Amino acid sequence: MAVTVSFGIQKGGASKTTTAGIFTYLLARDGMRVLACDMDCQGNLTELITGIAANEFYERTVLEAIQEKDAERFIYRVNDSIDILPANNLLSLLPRYLYQTFGFHDPNIYNVLSDILGPIKDRYDWVVIDTPPALSEATMNSLVASDYVVVMFESSQWCYSAIPNFLESVLLAQKLNPRLQVAGILRTLNDVRRADAKAFNDLIGEEYPDLVFETIIRRKAATGRLAINGFDPENKELLDGIEQYEAFYKEMMARVTVTQ
Ligand SMILES: Nc1ncnc2c1ncn2[C@@H]1O[C@H](COP(=O)(O)OP(=O)(O)OP(=O)(O)O)[C@@H](O)[C@H]1O
Ligand SMILES: [Mg+2]
Repeated sequence: MAVTVSFGIQKGGASKTTTAGIFTYLLARDGMRVLACDMDCQGNLTELITGIAANEFYERTVLEAIQEKDAERFIYRVNDSIDILPANNLLSLLPRYLYQTFGFHDPNIYNVLSDILGPIKDRYDWVVIDTPPALSEATMNSLVASDYVVVMFESSQWCYSAIPNFLESVLLAQKLNPRLQVAGILRTLNDVRRADAKAFNDLIGEEYPDLVFETIIRRKAATGRLAINGFDPENKELLDGIEQYEAFYKEMMARVTVTQ
């Protein structure tokens, strides 16, 4: 049965998608079968992993999979190791679909992703979910479908403000899915020249000593440009872009193995 991990924080631009994409790449490199699942209507993970514009997946996305209660038909095969359930802007219609179908007070609105992943999970070693920058229905569904969540912390005041409410959403999701655990908080997009970034890193370390990953991901051009050049073996900066994630990857695998 696959291990399912979400990358989340309601603050925008905290490297959720980049990290989910690199984590998927590293798992596949090490021989694991991965299903990536894009739960953000921006469709960034879809574009990062497939190299295809998200609009090209019109009516072939995770939204239709949820509506038709069938993930299988909407899986796009990227290569021998990676499949993806894509997303595009129309995933913003998910709340309307949920409330029209279930009504406002039915907790099943948070189970629809978990329900469609259930029957296909045993084909994979990992399911990697990218979430949107909001505490939305898409995020709650991602958490309820997950064994682990990695909380992304981009060293800034507004990301710092986001963490308590994100952890409250995790608590809410745990009522529906008691398997869910916080794998850790990943400090990212770190600008080593900024004293305030260092101060926020230290603060998070002091407030959440049991949760922070030791690895701190730096702001690095080659990592940022993965959004342009992707994981194409022809991308000359690929190794340079992902290299700083190897330490996080090791820590993550150790935490998952220990707690499984
Ligand atoms: N370590 C890094 N170094 C440099 N640039 C990075 C790094 N990580 C991400 N980026 C860039 O920063 C921007 C935000 O990253 P990304 O889109 O992964 O964040 P996100 O949390 O998924 O954003 P959103 O909340 O919009 O979904 C992107 O342009 C991305 O290419
Ligand atoms: Mg994103």
